[in-house]
Amino acid sequence: MLTLYNSLVYWRADNSSSILLKSGNAFFGNATPSDQRHIEKPFKVKEAEPVNVTKPSPHKLLVLGGSGFVGSHVCKEALDKGLVVSSLNRSGKPSLNEPWADKVIWNQGNLLEPASLKDAMDNVSAVVSCVGGFGSNSFMYKINGTANINAIRAAAEKGVKRFVYVSAADFGLVNYLLQGYYEGKRASEAELLSKFTYGGVILRPGFIHGTRRVGSVKIPLGLVGSPMQMVLQNIKPLTRLPLIGPLLTPPVSAASVGKVAVRAATDPVFPPGIVDVYGIMRYSEQN
Ligand SMILES: NC(=O)c1ccc[n+]([C@@H]2O[C@H](COP(=O)([O-])OP(=O)(O)OC[C@H]3O[C@@H](n4cnc5c(N)ncnc54)[C@H](OP(=O)(O)O)[C@@H]3O)[C@@H](O)[C@H]2O)c1
Repeated sequence: MLTLYNSLVYWRADNSSSILLKSGNAFFGNATPSDQRHIEKPFKVKEAEPVNVTKPSPHKLLVLGGSGFVGSHVCKEALDKGLVVSSLNRSGKPSLNEPWADKVIWNQGNLLEPASLKDAMDNVSAVVSCVGGFGSNSFMYKINGTANINAIRAAAEKGVKRFVYVSAADFGLVNYLLQGYYEGKRASEAELLSKFTYGGVILRPGFIHGTRRVGSVKIPLGLVGSPMQMVLQNIKPLTRLPLIGPLLTPPVSAASVGKVAVRAATDPVFPPGIVDVYGIMRYSEQN
């Protein structure tokens, strides 16, 4: 900072781009060379010129398993947010008579056949994977682990910026009974954190409620899930009890998972890492 007492300062930029500074009496006509100091002008100010800026294209979100129970909520939330939404699943477009389904770009592919998903990753800014399932231990490892690891690697190779994986909360003893399921989930999580250190988000819901379609029948899981959520969300300390604690993990709605998944996929400052069920409830209540 320059502080001058009893002095006057004037300045002008001359043609050689320097600034002439005079101080004290020198200003009134008796300036000597020693009164003058040339200060190099640090930079030239140029007048801004108008530039034609093209509007950035909206995020393109790829939902793996967009036809499923959770995936369909992710698609609906993303469409509501104005994103371009595509899905990849084995059977392609589901036979649904719902307007949102017509707005999704449906790709047929199988995560267990990596070559079938490369094209679907073109120009995609973020991926949400809702692919998972139950069966024999080896099948569960394959679909929750290998299939998602393939997708994570393909997305990383294509330069996708963010990847959200819908995983699952631990359920204590149940983990032991569903070994393949949980080993697969944790293997995918490890791959995600290594390939997407800054843009990888893992959602770990417990039971997810909402309306699940089985063929043409709609099953309102919310009738059980919503009251359970109300009761269980307030007894968090009990979930730390050995053995039975994890069974008290509150359920969350499929709409909440969809909302948080889309935010995690599109918000560049959404923190990478694991979001547990309480985090999902908290984020889903934010606008
Ligand atoms: N539902 C819950 O209560 C709950 C709780 C915690 C965690 N989760 C997790 O949330 C995720 C979604 O669950 P969800 O209940 O929505 O499952 P879902 O209804 O069975 O949906 C699975 C989706 O994945 C697709 N899919 C399956 N295998 C595939 C493959 N090999 N390649 C490509 N697409 C494939 C299916 O479509 P196609 O059959 O056409 O391929 C479908 O779109 C899963 O990872 C699950 O473990 C669910």
